[in-house]
Amino acid sequence: MRSIILAIESSCDETSASVVVNGKVLNNIIATQAVHQKYGGVVPELASRAHQQNIVAVVKEALQGANIRLTDLNAVAFTRGPGLMGSLLVGVSFAKGLSLGLRIPMIEINHMQAHVLAHFIDEPVPAFPFLCLTVSGGHTQIVLVKDFLEMVVIGQTQDDAVGEAFDKAAKILDLPYPGGPLIDAYAKRGNDQAFKFPETIMPGLDFSFSGIKTAFLYFLRDEKQKNPAFVEENLNDICASLQQHLVNMLLTRLTQASDKTGIRQIAIAGGVSANSGLRKRLKELGVERGWNVYIPAIEYCTDNAAMIAIAAHYKYKKGEFCGLETTPLARMPL
Ligand code: KG4
Ligand code: ZN
Repeated sequence: MRSIILAIESSCDETSASVVVNGKVLNNIIATQAVHQKYGGVVPELASRAHQQNIVAVVKEALQGANIRLTDLNAVAFTRGPGLMGSLLVGVSFAKGLSLGLRIPMIEINHMQAHVLAHFIDEPVPAFPFLCLTVSGGHTQIVLVKDFLEMVVIGQTQDDAVGEAFDKAAKILDLPYPGGPLIDAYAKRGNDQAFKFPETIMPGLDFSFSGIKTAFLYFLRDEKQKNPAFVEENLNDICASLQQHLVNMLLTRLTQASDKTGIRQIAIAGGVSANSGLRKRLKELGVERGWNVYIPAIEYCTDNAAMIAIAAHYKYKKGEFCGLETTPLARMPL
């Protein structure tokens, strides 16, 4: 059965559309919203407005680039949650309009499930069961992936997400939003053993990242009292040491999860999986521990509709559609 699906992602601050034909993702059009940079974080109201402005052009570009007409579509997929309510509403409402107008079914996608399924866009694909460390601006989870649509969270953060820790630390350093990629860039030129930070150990496979933010704030305050130019003189080393610390926290738990479950197929996903320190250290760990490691292409780490499209493909195959009464969910468990 030939399936041509249009997928829309609008959960946060990227408006994105993608077309998938018979499980092959043809493109991934993304409009990034620069408007948030000067505010030091995503402003929900501005994000919804920007989605409204971008969505028609982004969808048009995805269809034209794939040489697909609206009338060719067999289904329309969208991110139902988790995410910002106003942002999600734009994508959900747009999908409802297309579904009604074209008389095609809708497929609702869980954004976090899609981050994991990004591993099935291109070869090599992981074998089931595998573990996926899903790390983004809103989530930090260790997911046991049993099948395409069967996933269990076996560890997660009890407070901030690791992406938030990167972004908040960057804000403390007066770097613009999103700070994660900037910390990554400065870290490349620094000594990752220059400074040490404390760690909050949580029970089981859970994480906590709120303590590191406060510790980082006090560390800089104390150092700046001694030397007002401390940050300017040590920016690379500060970023390298902080990044090393956060990556270490993530990979310690992931290693424990592998030991506990006996699973050696290990993947990472989500925006923070673009981090070069995490990618490098995971590759090394994979060699040390005999894991098969799966790291997504950079364009599929941060928010994108290609991952929504591939997730939609698997739901389409199973006939998992939703009705027009569907509503977005700011919180949506896996
Ligand atoms: O998955 P994503 O695009 O959006 C959410 O679903 O949250 O993740 C965004 C997060 C932000 O916190 C951003 O700073 C972080 O991913 N991020 C990075 C890097 N690239 C993006 N963090 C560290 N290093 C990077 N290279
Ligand atoms: Zn995301």
